[in-house]
Amino acid sequence: MNIDNKRANGRYYTCGNPFQLDPFKTWAIDSDLEHQVVLEPFAGAKNIPQLINSTHLKCQDWEYFDVEPGAEGIVQRDTLANFPKGFDVCITNPPWLARNSATRRGLPYPDETDYDDLYKYALEKCIVHCPWVAAIIPEAFIRSGLFLKRLCDFISLVPQRENKTNQTSNKRETSSMFEDTEHPVGLALFAPDITSDVRVWRNNLLLGTLSELRQHLPMPSNNRSIVFNDPNGNLGLYAIDNTVSASIRFCPPAELGEYKVRQQCRSITKIGVPWSVDIDMLNSHIATIREKTHDVFLTAFKGLRRDGKYRRRLDWALARSIIEVDHPE
Ligand SMILES: C[S@@+](CC[C@H](N)C(=O)[O-])C[C@H]1O[C@@H](n2cnc3c(N)ncnc32)[C@H](O)[C@@H]1O
Repeated sequence: MNIDNKRANGRYYTCGNPFQLDPFKTWAIDSDLEHQVVLEPFAGAKNIPQLINSTHLKCQDWEYFDVEPGAEGIVQRDTLANFPKGFDVCITNPPWLARNSATRRGLPYPDETDYDDLYKYALEKCIVHCPWVAAIIPEAFIRSGLFLKRLCDFISLVPQRENKTNQTSNKRETSSMFEDTEHPVGLALFAPDITSDVRVWRNNLLLGTLSELRQHLPMPSNNRSIVFNDPNGNLGLYAIDNTVSASIRFCPPAELGEYKVRQQCRSITKIGVPWSVDIDMLNSHIATIREKTHDVFLTAFKGLRRDGKYRRRLDWALARSIIEVDHPE
């Protein structure tokens, strides 16, 4: 199947196994998984039940649906238009498709929703109809602010390096959640009742609750006198990690040499700040924020750094608030 056909239905099948992680096991006990008939509304080739079986977790039975079934025993149905009712537990990896990507590629995208990605629409359907929902979704979800009321846990799923050596390339292989993409993914766990906070995990490591982590962010800034992509700016910024380590940093603009600022570029820029900036201080703010928030609020890129973590990007809004912290009175 070609990549555009896969994209049209948001079809990237789950391959890693996030269901062996402790927070999922706790959720499975709380949801009484063992006695439930579980709904898989976007079943694909039934990978999720196989993964759950392989962790030795049990449920009473499964019901499968998909608009384009990829295996026997799946009911053919457009579940976005006609969502199956009467299930207490739903475990899925819904279709993902960014609206702008659909538009660019001429792929269909439902008119009924304003969400910018199909997974948000699909996830909303699951949460509205099922008290307990576990969904594999983009890692960026945790920064969207959506559906937090019943979200109890969010796990950033970082592929674990396997000690398996690829004979031809002689490189160590990394087990990925998907066959076709190494898009950063998370597992979101929802409960029936309103939750007081969201526990955020990296695999089995509890990083903190969302509100605890947010406390380490600087106050948001609207200071428009800080101008990004200013060719004559007095501050440089490498906004994306390199492939080796956490390398996002501010720098003197001269270090960027003849680099031409491009308006659309989100990786390297010059910034006009109407005061004299202390670059070392700004970089120490970045380091502290990264350490205390475990990068939860920085967008992850596909592909891991050499230190086994996702490459991250500092967006302009957070960069602006970091610069503003050192605004002289
Ligand atoms: C990301 S794949 C995941 C498949 C499976 N859940 C897994 O984890 O391997 C998403 C699936 O959603 C299905 N899908 C897309 N739009 C759908 C719709 N409107 N109704 C039902 N299934 C749909 C696709 O056919 C695809 O099999």
